[in-house]
Amino acid sequence: MKGLILSGGYGTRLRPITYSQQKQLIPVANKPILFYAIEDVIGAGAKEIGIIVGPNKEQVIETVESENWDAEIDFIYQDAPRGLAHTILVAEDFLDEGFVMYLGDNILREGIAEHAKKFKENNYDASIMLTEVENPEQFGVADINEDGTIKKLIEKPEVPPSNLALVGIYFFKTAILEACKSIKPSWRNELEITDAIQWLIDNGYEVGWTKVNGWWKDTGKPEDIFEANRLILDDIQTRSEGNAESTKIIGRAIIEKGVEIKDSSVKGPSLIGRDCLIRNSYVGPYTSIGKECIIEDTEIEDSIVMEKSEIIGGGRIIESLIGKEVKIKRKADLPNGRKLIVGDHSEIVG
Ligand code: G1P
Repeated sequence: MKGLILSGGYGTRLRPITYSQQKQLIPVANKPILFYAIEDVIGAGAKEIGIIVGPNKEQVIETVESENWDAEIDFIYQDAPRGLAHTILVAEDFLDEGFVMYLGDNILREGIAEHAKKFKENNYDASIMLTEVENPEQFGVADINEDGTIKKLIEKPEVPPSNLALVGIYFFKTAILEACKSIKPSWRNELEITDAIQWLIDNGYEVGWTKVNGWWKDTGKPEDIFEANRLILDDIQTRSEGNAESTKIIGRAIIEKGVEIKDSSVKGPSLIGRDCLIRNSYVGPYTSIGKECIIEDTEIEDSIVMEKSEIIGGGRIIESLIGKEVKIKRKADLPNGRKLIVGDHSEIVG
C-alpha cells in the first residue's frame, strides 16, 4: 500500500502564521503536524509516500527532507487548492495500487494500522474512518443504514443525518480515479472527496468504514492546534537533559539538551526544546517551547512558541501561538494577561 499525504492549501483560518508558514508545518508538541501523518502512514506499512505540495512547497520539501524516513518520499505539485479529489487526479501516475490518503493537518492518537488492516482483510474498494463529533455540519457526514452499510455521505450538511464525521484519512483502490474523473465541482468549486466516495457507492463498489476510538483533531483553527498540543502533551513522560537552577519542576515535563533554566517554575505537562534559556519565568501546563528560545520575566501557559523566539518581560501570556524568530519585549508596564497569535519574524515592543 502506498501513502498520499496532503500538505497544500492556504490555511486561511490560521493567519497570520500561515502567511509565512505552511499550516501542516506548525509544530504541535514541538513536531510539525505533518510528521504525525508521515509516521502513521509508515506505521501502516507504506514504503512509498507521495506528498501533495502547494503554495509553500520549498518549505515542506526542506522540512520533510531534514529527517530520515523509513520510506521513499516523492513530492507532487498541485497548482491551486481545487479539492481533495483533485489531488488524487494530480497524483494519478503515482497511484498505481491501493493507497491511504491522509490529510496532513489531521492528528489521530491511535494511528491507522488497525484501520488499514480492516481495509485489506475485507477487500473493500474504499474504506473511510468515522468519529462522533459535536459539530457535524462542519465536516463530511455519514448516514448509516440499519445493517451497518453506508447509505449516504454528505459534505458539510446543514441538517446532518448523524453525528458521524468523516476523518480526513481514507483507504482506496484505484477505482477512486474513475470516481474523481466522473464528479463535478461542488458549490465551493472543489472536487470533493466525499462526492467521489458517494460515486463509488452509487456505482456498486464496496465501501466500508471503521470507527475511531481515541481522539482525532483536524487542526484548521488556532483552538484546534492548542487542543492537539494538550492532547499530545497529556501523554508525555518526564525527561530532563537540561540544567535547572533554583527552579521548581512540578508534574511531567520534557526538558531537552542544552536548556538552561534559572529562578523559574515549570509546571507540566510541558515541553522545552533544546538550547532554550528560561530565566525568572513561569512555564505553565500545556506549553510547548521550540528550540533556541529565550524566555525571561514572563509567565506563559497553554501556548505554543516556535523556535528561536524571544519573550522578555512578556507579562502573562495564555493560549497563544507565537511564530518563529518572534521578539516580544516589554519596556513599560502593560495590563496583565495577553492572548497572541503572532506570525514569524514579528516584533512586539511595549
Ligand atoms: C475535509 C473533508 C471532510 C472531512 C474533513 C476532515 O474537509 O472534505 O469531509 O470531514 O476534511 O478533516 P475540509 O478540511 O476540506 O473542510
